[in-house]
Amino acid sequence: MREQLNKIYENASTDLAKASSIADIEEIRGKYLSRKGEFNEIKKNLKNLSDEDKRTVGALANEITQKLEAALKAKHDEFYTKELNEKLKKERIDITLPGKYTQMGKKHLLTSTTDEIVSIFQGLGFSVVPQEHSPEVETEYYNFDALNVPKDHPARDVQDTFYTELAQNVVLRSQTSGAQIHVMEGKNPPIRVIAPGRVYRNENVNARKNNFFHQIEGLYVDKDVTFGDLKGVLNEFIRVYFGASRPTRFRNSFFPFTEPSAEVDVQCIMCEGKGCRTCSGTGWLEVLGCGMVDPNVLRGVGIDPDVYSGFAFGMGVERLAMLKYAVDDIRLFFNNDERFLKQF
Ligand code: DAH
Repeated sequence: MREQLNKIYENASTDLAKASSIADIEEIRGKYLSRKGEFNEIKKNLKNLSDEDKRTVGALANEITQKLEAALKAKHDEFYTKELNEKLKKERIDITLPGKYTQMGKKHLLTSTTDEIVSIFQGLGFSVVPQEHSPEVETEYYNFDALNVPKDHPARDVQDTFYTELAQNVVLRSQTSGAQIHVMEGKNPPIRVIAPGRVYRNENVNARKNNFFHQIEGLYVDKDVTFGDLKGVLNEFIRVYFGASRPTRFRNSFFPFTEPSAEVDVQCIMCEGKGCRTCSGTGWLEVLGCGMVDPNVLRGVGIDPDVYSGFAFGMGVERLAMLKYAVDDIRLFFNNDERFLKQF
């Protein structure tokens, strides 16, 4: 039995010398030292020996298995370190390499300008009208008639307004003012809303005009609303949007749906009022139209103009963005040229 034990140990040592990985070592451990391993098979026969032999052979068996254990462990550790080092080498990353650049998307200048304007008016107590009160495809009634625009008004001409072939009198809206009518039809005063959206006009496209652009309409109807309220709200808007230092003026104007009507100018940002090409030498740039809602318009939607009054305004988003960021061509908003869009 001694011989057998020594022989097994020899075999195990030869196997171990050939081992080249942790997996090989585990295989050897299974073959010799597991419950069904070769040493255990021998140990089972110990019981047939004399007491004396049991002791000496048993001691030898233990000594040999311990030696083998130790040898296995040493090899295991050796391979473990080796394999770990190889793995670390393979997976090493150079943290000094520059990272991969991922471009972040961001809001289009028109969207961020609209958001900014909307949030200023929200701060003044206005809420945004629901989409169904501000459709881009309108009947002539909402775009013109209900707004007191005469049948023979030049704005109705096909040269200014896009008529659709959906039905007679269906147009792509040329202004957001139709939202005023939808809102007043759906709700009694007090009303304090804004309606941002796209409008269409049959224009020859150039640096100042595009055949679609964006407006923000405002409407405030309640008892005792005055022109003073209108000036207060719009001056506050301009103060916040352009900054306190920008001079502003209200100028007499005409719109069919407001009486009296006004336009608001801000001092030209290019020449600071001295007069230049951008402002045609006047030193001023028009930013919005406004006025007190015409009694005819109120009457048309069933609101009594003897009880209620209101003001309305409409502004061009492109224009406001151009004036704030000194953009000199409206087409830049729609060309999707990243070199332009990235700047904002
Ligand atoms: N709808 C007008 C336009 O497109 C702008 C405007 C002027 C809107 C006066 C208003 C207003 O609500 O009261 O030129």
